[in-house]
Amino acid sequence: MASFLLSLVAFSILTASVATLTLNDVRYVVTNNATNTLGGERYDSEVGADFTVQVLRNATVFVWKVFEQGPDERKDVHEVHLYVRSADGIANTDGGSNIFVSADYIGNFSGDVRPFLTGVLYHEVTHVWQWNGQGTAPGGLTEGIADYVMFKAGMLGWGKPGAGSRWDEGYEVTAMFLDYCASFKSSFVADLNKLMKDKYSDGHFQTLLGKPLDQLWADYKAKYGGGGQAVKHPSMHRNI
Ligand SMILES: *[C@@H]1O[C@H](CO)[C@@H](O)[C@H](O)[C@H]1NC(C)=O
Ligand SMILES: *[C@@H]1O[C@H](CO)[C@@H](O)[C@H](O)[C@H]1NC(C)=O
Ligand SMILES: *[C@@H]1O[C@H](CO)[C@@H](O)[C@H](O)[C@H]1NC(C)=O
Repeated sequence: MASFLLSLVAFSILTASVATLTLNDVRYVVTNNATNTLGGERYDSEVGADFTVQVLRNATVFVWKVFEQGPDERKDVHEVHLYVRSADGIANTDGGSNIFVSADYIGNFSGDVRPFLTGVLYHEVTHVWQWNGQGTAPGGLTEGIADYVMFKAGMLGWGKPGAGSRWDEGYEVTAMFLDYCASFKSSFVADLNKLMKDKYSDGHFQTLLGKPLDQLWADYKAKYGGGGQAVKHPSMHRNI
């Protein structure tokens, strides 16, 4: 009897909350490990694993495009896993190809969960594929590149050109600065990411744009004086 119940539970977990998709040699697996929580139930009814694997796939293809990477230039990743689980925060990765999304955050979210989570996942999926200079890149830069990808996808619901006090403050501050750098060379972020395969150096900015990083940041601040036009996407909130 006990084993019968156990297999019934396992069966319902499998049917209700797991989805996989394989494309271009990458397998995407989404598992809801929080089906017994209100947030996990809300995830299943308002988002769903079938939708989420598609977002992971779409975001991956988009990241490869922003990074201008052909099949031979990408990270050697063939499985991306996403787990919905009870946790603090909103979402994170383990530094590899596992993504975690907080069921509690979804349970408490006010608004349309699908577009919100889609934006968050473009950010997290960027972390799966980006280079970080073998750990030498500033964390603010890798977070800024992840927000830059959201921005290019039209999913960054915050950010204002010229804002911030340091180029590597991270998130939208760095993303808007990278967008300024890309105004001189459209492949800038792709090129920077390629240089970061082996090692990060501030000198990469000079190599790519012919100006030192400090000078670029000073020019950028002078151009906007801290007050450019805010980026707005109606379904997004500044909360990751
Ligand atoms: C999710 O649940 C599965 C099946 O119970 C388990 O093997 C796995 O470790 C869990 N993962 C996380 C991240 O909680
Ligand atoms: C994924 O991309 C395809 C093709 O652009 C689109 O039709 C589909 O709606 C996207 N799916 C999601 C979940 O965003
Ligand atoms: C809201 O978040 C708290 C913890 O941050 C959690 O305990 C609670 O279950 C969440 N509410 C819902 C409806 O998910």
